[in-house]
Amino acid sequence: MAPNPDQVKVMKQAVAKAAADRVTSGTVVGLGTGSTTVLAIEYLGQRLQGGGLRDIRGVPTSFQASVLAKRYGIPLVTLDDVERLDLAIDGADEVDPAKNLIKGGGAAHTREKVVDSLADQLIIVVDSSKLVQHLGSSFPVPLEILPMALAPVTRAVERLGGTPELRMGVKKDGPVITDQGNFVLDVKFPQIDDPAGLEQTLNNIPGVLENGIFVALADVVLVGEIQGGEPVVRQF
Ligand code: 5RP
Repeated sequence: MAPNPDQVKVMKQAVAKAAADRVTSGTVVGLGTGSTTVLAIEYLGQRLQGGGLRDIRGVPTSFQASVLAKRYGIPLVTLDDVERLDLAIDGADEVDPAKNLIKGGGAAHTREKVVDSLADQLIIVVDSSKLVQHLGSSFPVPLEILPMALAPVTRAVERLGGTPELRMGVKKDGPVITDQGNFVLDVKFPQIDDPAGLEQTLNNIPGVLENGIFVALADVVLVGEIQGGEPVVRQF
């Protein structure tokens, strides 16, 4: 049975706290985007305020993460200041058994991939509804594209067998505009048998900045589940 919204919320809280608890003093931490990482950033702020955590610096993956970090007192640095990150905490829209991901539900996958790929350890925080056997089962692959390349990229992904849909704004007429000023094309593929190959193929289309397939980047996946009515966190 699919979890109800209250169960999803407690699962997200449990994994967010578990991830935030793994952050140690003096480290550089990638701050992901999405409703689960919002909670992780909040927990990090609480640990800093409580004195149990000191001297961390955050690298935000989006405007959302940057605003939250400032709200919760997490000092920020950029990739000009640091070469590597000790840890990154990020969410995902789908996770397969090999820890490959689809990300970009928040249209932040381009910056997320840059930051997450520089982390010595990437921790993915999801509720159990995100686990799939094959990527693409429930979620389309988001592509961040240059607005002027919308038509040729649309034709190119159709030739690959995908069904593209321009992501539209909510409470905003017209398309979603990313933090970098671009469009997002959500592309549904029948079945993704070769995530690494498709990731490369999509990024080779002129006008595509980055796609939401993340291969071999996640080190740890923390999954929030409900067992006996209580949230538990499982790791794989
Ligand atoms: C943003 C992302 C998010 O991490 C992903 O959409 C998961 O979000 P949520 O925690 O709200 O389910 O990739 O671009």
